[in-house]
Amino acid sequence: METIYGTGRREASGTMSSSNLIMSEPIRVLVTGAAGQIAYSLLYSIAKGDVFGKDQTLILVLLDITPMMTVLDGVLMELQDCALPLLREVIATDKEEVAFKNLDVAVLVGSMPRKEGMERKDLLKANVKIFKSQGAALDKYAKKSVKVIVVGNPANTNCLTASKSAPSIPKENFSCLTRLDHNRAKSQIALKVGVTANDVKNCIIWGNHSSTQYPDVNHAKVKVQGKEVGVYEAVKNDNWLKGDFISTVQQRGAAVIKARKLSSAMSAAKAICDHVRDLWFGTPEGEFVSMGVISDGNSYGVPEDLIYSFPVVIKNKTWKFVEGLPINDFSREKMDLTAKELSEEKEMAVEFLSSA
Ligand code: NAI
Repeated sequence: METIYGTGRREASGTMSSSNLIMSEPIRVLVTGAAGQIAYSLLYSIAKGDVFGKDQTLILVLLDITPMMTVLDGVLMELQDCALPLLREVIATDKEEVAFKNLDVAVLVGSMPRKEGMERKDLLKANVKIFKSQGAALDKYAKKSVKVIVVGNPANTNCLTASKSAPSIPKENFSCLTRLDHNRAKSQIALKVGVTANDVKNCIIWGNHSSTQYPDVNHAKVKVQGKEVGVYEAVKNDNWLKGDFISTVQQRGAAVIKARKLSSAMSAAKAICDHVRDLWFGTPEGEFVSMGVISDGNSYGVPEDLIYSFPVVIKNKTWKFVEGLPINDFSREKMDLTAKELSEEKEMAVEFLSSA
C-alpha cells in the first residue's frame, strides 16, 4: 500500500497488519540516514523487537535525502518483506515535516561525511546546517518527551547543535553514541583475560567520540572463575592497560575503515541498539554505561554545556551521572584533553549556528 502525503514527492508508506494479538499502542521511531549502511543493519533489529521489546508495536519512519529515495524505497520493501509482527507501518520520506511528526524516539544517523580534502571546520559547518534544521524540526513536530540519539559524526557536537535548536525539548532528552567505543573497550579486556564480553562491566568512555576519547577501566570489573575482580588485577599488565589498550580503542574506527574500506556498521548498529534499549528499559543493577550527555559543570571537572561522554545509570527512562568515582592524575589529563577538543568544536559550532 502506498500513501501520498501532501504535495511534492511521493512518500512511500506500507501498512502491515499482524495476525498476532499484540495490542500495544505503537511508538513512532525515526531513523535518519536510513538508506545508509548503519541503518541497513539497525532497522531489522529495531523492527523485530530487540530494542523496545517483543510486545511493543512500532511505526518506523525512514528519512534520507532526495537523491537516495530510490534506495530507501528498496529498504522499505525489504522491511515489508520481513513480515514482522511488531511493525505496524513504515514511512519513507525526504521531508522533515513528515519525518519528525509525533516522534517518541529519533535516531539521527545521517550526516555529511568527510570528503577528500575537507577541513574539519568545513565538515563541522556542513553538519551544523543539518543538525540545526533537524533540531528545529524536532522542536516543531516531535513529542516533547522524544528521546534523541545522535550517531552521525561529529556525534557529540551534532547532538549539541540539535539540542540548542530544539529549546522546547529538555536537554537531558538528547544523547550521543559512545556505546560502540564502550563495547570496544569491553571486548578488548575480555579478549585479553580470556572471558566473554558479558563478564566485563563498568568500562567508561570519557569525552568525545573521536581519537581523543579516554577509555578508562580503573573502575571496571571482570568476572574470572566466578569471582569479580578489578581489571588491573585480572589483566596483570599495567603497561598494556595504559598504552596499547587505550590507543587500540581510540583508533579502532580507523582500523576498521582501513581493513573494510568502509566504516563500522554492524558494530555501530549493535551499539545503537544497546544504547537505546538501556534508555528505554534502564541499566542493570550495579552496572553503568557510557553515553554522551549534557555536562552540568559540577561533574568530574568537565566544563558546563558540552555533550561529553560520561558513565551513567538509567532508570525510568532518565539517566543520572555515576557520582563520586575517584579520578587519578593519569585520567585527569586525558579527560581534560578530550574536553578541550569538545570546547573547540562547540565554539566553531556556535559561530556557525548564529550565521547558518
Ligand atoms: P552512510 O554514508 O552509509 O549513510 C549515511 C546516510 O545518511 C546516507 O544515506 C546519506 O544520504 C544520509 N544523509 C546525509 N545527510 C542527510 C540528512 N541531512 N538527512 C537524512 N539523511 C542524510 O554512513 P554510515 O556508515 O551509515 O554512517 C552514518 C554516520 O554515522 C556517519 O557520520 C558515521 O561517521 C557515523 N558513525 C558514528 C559512530 C558513533 O559511534 N557515533 C560509529 C560509526 C559511524
